[in-house]
Parts: sequence; structure tokens; C-alpha cells
Amino acid sequence: MHRTRCDRAPAWSALRALYETQGRTLDLRQAFAADEGRFERLSLQAPHVFADLSKNLINAAIQAQLTELARQCGVEPHREAMLRGEHVNSAEDRAAMHFLLRHPGGAAARELAPSVQASLREVQGVLDAMLAYAQAVREDAAITDVVNIGIGGSDLGPQMAVLALDAFVDHGKRYHFVSSVDGHELSHVLRQVRPESTLFLVASKSFTTLETMTNAHSAKAWFEAQGGRDIARHFCALTSNVKAAAEFGISTCFGFWDWVGGRYSMWSAIGLPMAIAIGPRHFRELLAGAHAMDEHFRTAELARNLPVQLALLDVWYRNFHGFGSRSVAPYHSGLRRMQAYLQQLEMESNGKRVDEAGQALPYATSPVIWGEPAANGQHAYFQMLHQGSDVIPVEFIAVRKVAHDLPEHHLKLLANGLAQAQALMLGQADPGGHRHMPGNRPSTFLLLEELTPTSLGALIALYEHRVFVAGSLWGINSFDQWGVELGKVLAKAIEPRLESGDSAGLDASTAGLLKRLRG
Ligand code: F6P
Repeated sequence: MHRTRCDRAPAWSALRALYETQGRTLDLRQAFAADEGRFERLSLQAPHVFADLSKNLINAAIQAQLTELARQCGVEPHREAMLRGEHVNSAEDRAAMHFLLRHPGGAAARELAPSVQASLREVQGVLDAMLAYAQAVREDAAITDVVNIGIGGSDLGPQMAVLALDAFVDHGKRYHFVSSVDGHELSHVLRQVRPESTLFLVASKSFTTLETMTNAHSAKAWFEAQGGRDIARHFCALTSNVKAAAEFGISTCFGFWDWVGGRYSMWSAIGLPMAIAIGPRHFRELLAGAHAMDEHFRTAELARNLPVQLALLDVWYRNFHGFGSRSVAPYHSGLRRMQAYLQQLEMESNGKRVDEAGQALPYATSPVIWGEPAANGQHAYFQMLHQGSDVIPVEFIAVRKVAHDLPEHHLKLLANGLAQAQALMLGQADPGGHRHMPGNRPSTFLLLEELTPTSLGALIALYEHRVFVAGSLWGINSFDQWGVELGKVLAKAIEPRLESGDSAGLDASTAGLLKRLRG
């Protein structure tokens, strides 16, 4: 299918001109003063997520031209190609059909391409089996600890969601996530658990990832050394490499497909720790929330399509304003791993310097994504957001109703979120003084009614599609990650040198550090 790279679309030049005449000098305070309807016009209700975009550095003309950019770049046919199961992951010659993992099937499946419908049947078969297994584990009082061993997409999504959905979690069991090859992590967990009451989930799409396989081997060795016998009961693999799992000695296995990218996989078997924690009904609600967002993305016109509009803001800020990062500020402690999750989703997807054909791009792509749960961030780096020399767009995520019984805390929390967004925009006059805050600093405010499986599913799907659209505009393949390979190869070569001390042929810095590390 034909895609037009953003800088080759006529709207790109039009946006350049608009940036010079209106964008560069746009003042949010004046924009609100001049337009009573700005909040209504620039806010959007998508399924389970309300978005206030009005504190962004855009006006009606800019927004219209950005939307025109999406049209001219072929975002819609590209979206349809993904939904038809075409190989939009061109470098790896694969489809990217994570949306299928949350499709409800039934009558709604009629709009899917026939080839995709066949995959949906497989998806639903594995989902049913995995949820039945999750329920059995939930009912098994002898299992008190669930240890997920996985990294990247095989860790971040489930871990983030188990924390976020704490109000729905079965607290009869403890959930542990071991990701790094740093032995502190695994040994810390192994000190707390017993072999007869622990279920290890080895989560790895490839079943070859060094960190995960090292941890899995050590966990199995520990289990056997402690007298554990029943591997089939105490080890379960979540992988698309069933053969490797069997060779490892794990017979209980839930599979998924090469068309599920690691960072898009929390809806697949990789979601098992979540399914055990929140139960099958809530897991299905998570999928339903994501599907509602998929439908919004598929059907809403570009101008009212939230993932599209957020992606356009990303392009506007990165390529016209030259902003290098975006700070994510969740005003809900349950979302404390959200930034880590988004860092992989966005930066591993769109942190690329070449287009789909491998040609160097003449413009910047993914911003740096960073942040902390915001009440803490306020007392740490928000100083820089208000008075630093860089402008950093902030994305607030707030939840209207909470699941604790300290309403006065929530009022204070929300007041702080609103106040920070307001302060960023309004600033403060203190000519020549240290209290001067320039203001006019942009932010987006995402609001959930409640943090539930449904709304979390919708929120994550929103981010997935936003990343797809931004990647589509930038002309890159958002579904590969070659950049992480070199380090893996070099680590394999360095490991034996750390043992032997052989530094021949190494650069002087690596050789010097190697020598020091050997002591
Ligand atoms: O190294 C990057 C990566 O390939 C991620 O894309 C992926 O989520 C992670 O490693 C883990 O991979 P796997 O699930 O195959 O162990």
C-alpha cells in the first residue's frame, strides 16, 4: 500500500508556513481569551478516555492542517492494511494484529478479512484455555506465589497492569516480576517463596532472551535443589516458541503468534499473570475496553480520532517546535509503572532514524518519554518543567473516582494535577526575578472515569494506536527493533572475556573497565 512520508506531503509545507506565522508565537492565554469555545472544540471523548487537548500549542487552522497531513500521508489506508492483516511489519515480513487479541468475535467478526477470521479462531481457543488455567490457579489455595520471569514486553505490560488494577487483584496470592539478569532480583524473590507453593511463569516470545533464560534456568535449578519434582505443575511457559519451551522441560504452555510484537503482547498469553491476578471476567473486560478503543480508531473521522490527534501533536511538537521529550504524569499511584511501559511502547517502536525502506530520515522521530507518578514528580523535576530552558509537553493522566475511602486525599491529588497544568500554561510574572515563570507550556489532560480493567484496556490501546499513527506519519516501521540487537551480540562476546581477562582487540575504555571489573 502507498504511504507518503510526512515531509513529502503538501500539508508539511503548509504546516511549516503556519508554524512561522502562527505556531511559533501562539500564546495559550491569548488563545483562551479570544475563544470561549476552545475547551469544547479541543476536547475529545473517546471510549473510556476523555482528552482535553486545549492546552496544546495549536489553533483551529493548525489542527486542520495537521489532520490534513494525516490524510495526505495515507494514515487511513495504512490503518486498514494493518487491520486486514497485511504485513505492515515489512522488515520482518509479518502482520501486526495485536487488535485481534481483543476482538470479541461473533457477529462483529464479519467486518474482519477472511484470513484474519481464521487467526481469530486460534486466538479465542488459546484465550479460553489460558483463562480456564488462570481460574484453576486462582482456586488452587496451595499456590501462594506467582513469579513471572520475562523482560521487555514480556514483563512491563502485565506488571504495569497488575499494579494499576490492584483494586481487582486476588490478594490471596503474591505476584512477583523478575526481569533483569541481575541476580539480586531473582534471589530476592527466591528467598520469599517455597517450591511447593510457587508457580513460575516463563514469559518469552522467542524463548531465547538471555535475561529470561538465565533466570528461568536458575529458578528451575533452585526448584529441583529444594526437592521440587512436579515441573508441569510449577512451571508454565508463555511463548511463541513452544518447541524451545519443551526442550527446556516445560510441558504446560500457552502460545501466541509471530504477528504479536513483544511490546503489544499483554493481551496474549503474556497476560497470564494478570489473568490470574484479576480473574477471567476482569481480563475479558480489559480486552473489551481495548476493543472499544480499536473501534474508535477504526471508525472515527481523523479530526475526532483521539489516537490520530495525539500522534499529530507528537509530530507538531517534535518536528516543528523541536521539543525533544514528553513527560507522562499519572495522578494515580496505580499507574506508577506506566512510564516504563510507555517507554518501551513508544521508544522501541518509533525510536528509529531510517524509513521503511532503510533510507535515513531528514527529521527527528520519537521523543524521549519519561516521568514519575506526578505527586512525586512535582517535588522533584517539575521545577524544570516550569522554569527550565527546554519546553517539555506534559501528559497528565487523572482518574475521577478512586477505590479508597480517603476522599480528601483524592481532592488534593486532583487539585494538584489541575494546578500544575494551569501553572504550566499561565506562568507567573516577576520581571527579572527568580519567580518568573514564562508559562505557555503545553499539556494534554487525559481523564478516566475510574481505573478499571475496561478503562485501562482502552487507555493502553489508545497509546498503541497513537504510536502506530506517529510511526506511519514518520514513514517508519514501528514493529521491528533492530537497535537492541548489537548490544546483545557484544555482551555474548564480552562475557567469556570477563572470565578469562582477555582484552585483546578491545577499545581502550572497554579493556580498562574489564580489567577493573576483574579486580
Ligand atoms: O530486546 C528487545 C526485545 O526483543 C523486546 O522487543 C521484547 O519485548 C523483549 O526483548 C523480550 O523478548 P522475548 O519476549 O522474546 O523474551
